Amino acid sequence: MSSSPTPKFKNPRAEHDFIGRTCSITGVGSYVPVKILTNFDLEKKVDTSDEWITSRTGIKERHIAAENEFTSDLGAEAALRAMKKAGVTADQIDLIIVATITPDMPFPSTACLVQRKIGAKRAAAFDLEAACSGFIYALEIAQQFIMSRTYDTVLVVGAEKLSSIIDWNDRNTCVLFGDGAGAAVLQSRPGSHGLLTAVMGADGENADLLFMPGGGSRCPASVESVNSRLHYLRMEGKETFKCAVQAMQTAAEEALQRCEIDITKIKCIIPHQANRRIIDAVGERLGAKTEQLFINLDKYGNTSAASVAIALDEAVESGRIQRGDLILLVVFGAGLTWGAAVIEW
Ligand SMILES: CC(C)(COP(=O)(O)OP(=O)(O)OC[C@H]1O[C@@H](n2cnc3c(N)ncnc32)[C@H](O)[C@@H]1OP(=O)(O)O)[C@@H](O)C(=O)NCCC(=O)NCCS
Repeated sequence: MSSSPTPKFKNPRAEHDFIGRTCSITGVGSYVPVKILTNFDLEKKVDTSDEWITSRTGIKERHIAAENEFTSDLGAEAALRAMKKAGVTADQIDLIIVATITPDMPFPSTACLVQRKIGAKRAAAFDLEAACSGFIYALEIAQQFIMSRTYDTVLVVGAEKLSSIIDWNDRNTCVLFGDGAGAAVLQSRPGSHGLLTAVMGADGENADLLFMPGGGSRCPASVESVNSRLHYLRMEGKETFKCAVQAMQTAAEEALQRCEIDITKIKCIIPHQANRRIIDAVGERLGAKTEQLFINLDKYGNTSAASVAIALDEAVESGRIQRGDLILLVVFGAGLTWGAAVIEW
């Protein structure tokens, strides 16, 4: 009589009565705008240098969307690429969740605009705002629909045109961000654990560390608000840095502990791509080896909700991640918000 193999890890979801249904990423895709803005280009705009930006952040260049290219355009292109890899057609998609802090407009949702652009007529659609943590928040929400058998195919998109909310006169922030989109198709894939767990957290007490004061109900657009430059992102860099390292470490450790997985078993760690020094500090605190960390921020800067999605796509495309590998996503953003997810690829 054959005995069942000893499991390599614990699946926290298995304790739920989901009758064995799991949720996997069956296709991932990304898109960045054509135009590249290098650190040397920025030297001509503000008082900065390639040396300063590279040594303090690790960023060398970022992509910037064209004037007539919007968050929904970036998101739709990434979505089509993910759908192609998953072998999914538009009419199969049940739900679209777009994570973004730079919607095309306050309403309707960018998800509805993506739905129109990709022709997913059957799909429900909504936006989710958790800043740079949005992609993991969206994965976790999407997963609930799949595991409860409410939907079979969910499209999760992280898309940003951050160049539209950057103060190009502020050297403290304008060197850090870029535009782009990443997308994932989520379905149940028999024989795989898929998304094992996702940790999500928030700290509204620190909402003032990273925010955009203008444009909402508190400060609607006016001549005064525009003249006071309130429609741009503002950030307390030093304090945000400290909170990011702490929150990412804690979230990652909780996710690993829930699955009873040691960091050495993780093939690839995909952290939010905000700052190379944040990534190195988190990696060190987790006891990870440098080669476990996936880093592409040198090419894109911080693309907020798109960041880990673009990185995941590149990690898969480059062969860094193979089916069956365990991967760890870990994110941090305005809110404050944070999250971590363990996935059997
Ligand atoms: C923004 C950040 C790179 C700044 O690095 P830092 O080592 O903390 O630098 P400081 O804020 O101490 O600034 C040091 C000096 O560099 C200057 N400086 C800031 N931006 C600069 C730039 N682009 N070029 C040149 N000098 C710059 C500052 O004015 C300051 O000058 P001062 O000492 O004369 O006042 C860093 O704090 C950071 O990455 N924070 C987290 C940002 C982030 O990831 N946010 C998103 C989270 S989702």
